[in-house]
Amino acid sequence: MAFSITVNGKAHSVDVDGDTPLLWVLRDVLGMTGTKFGCGMALCGACTVHIDGAASRSCITTIDSIGASEVTTIEAIAATAAGARIQEAWLDREVVQCGYCQSGQIMSASALLMSNPHPTDSDIDDAMSGNICRCGTYIRIREAIKQAAQSSGRGG
Ligand code: FES
Ligand code: FES
Repeated sequence: MAFSITVNGKAHSVDVDGDTPLLWVLRDVLGMTGTKFGCGMALCGACTVHIDGAASRSCITTIDSIGASEVTTIEAIAATAAGARIQEAWLDREVVQCGYCQSGQIMSASALLMSNPHPTDSDIDDAMSGNICRCGTYIRIREAIKQAAQSSGRGG
C-alpha cells in the first residue's frame, strides 16, 4: 500500500505494508541510514527521530500511524537552531566514541532544547534516560547539552 510521508521537509510516497516500522522505511526504502537499529523494542534510543518535533522511537512507529506529521532525521537536524548548537557542542566536547548510538542521542538532545532551551540536570536526565550508550559517553553528553543550552539565547 502507498503511504505519503514528509521527511526532512520533502514529501515521499512509499509502497510498504502499513505495519512497517518507520525505521525500515527510512533506512531501506529512502536510503537514510543515519538513523540506527539497536533493539527494535523502544529500549535503546538508537532509532530516535523527531515526529512533529518530538523525540520518537522509529523502530516502533508504524508507517500507517504517521499521517501528515513531519518527520525529521539526523540527516537534517543541523538545519534547526537547536540541532546545530547540539552538533557544534558534540564536536567541541568530543562526545562520540564508537558513534553507533550518537544519532539517537543528538535527536533526543535537540528535541530537549527545542522544548526546553535551558534544561536542569534533572531535565537532561529525564530526556536522555532512554538513550543507551554502550561506550559510556554519558558525562560528555550532559556537558555538551549544557554547553549548547548556554549558547542559546533564542530557543528553538
Ligand atoms: S532500536 Fe528503537 S529504541 Fe532501540
Ligand atoms: S558512542 Fe558507542 S554506543 Fe554510544
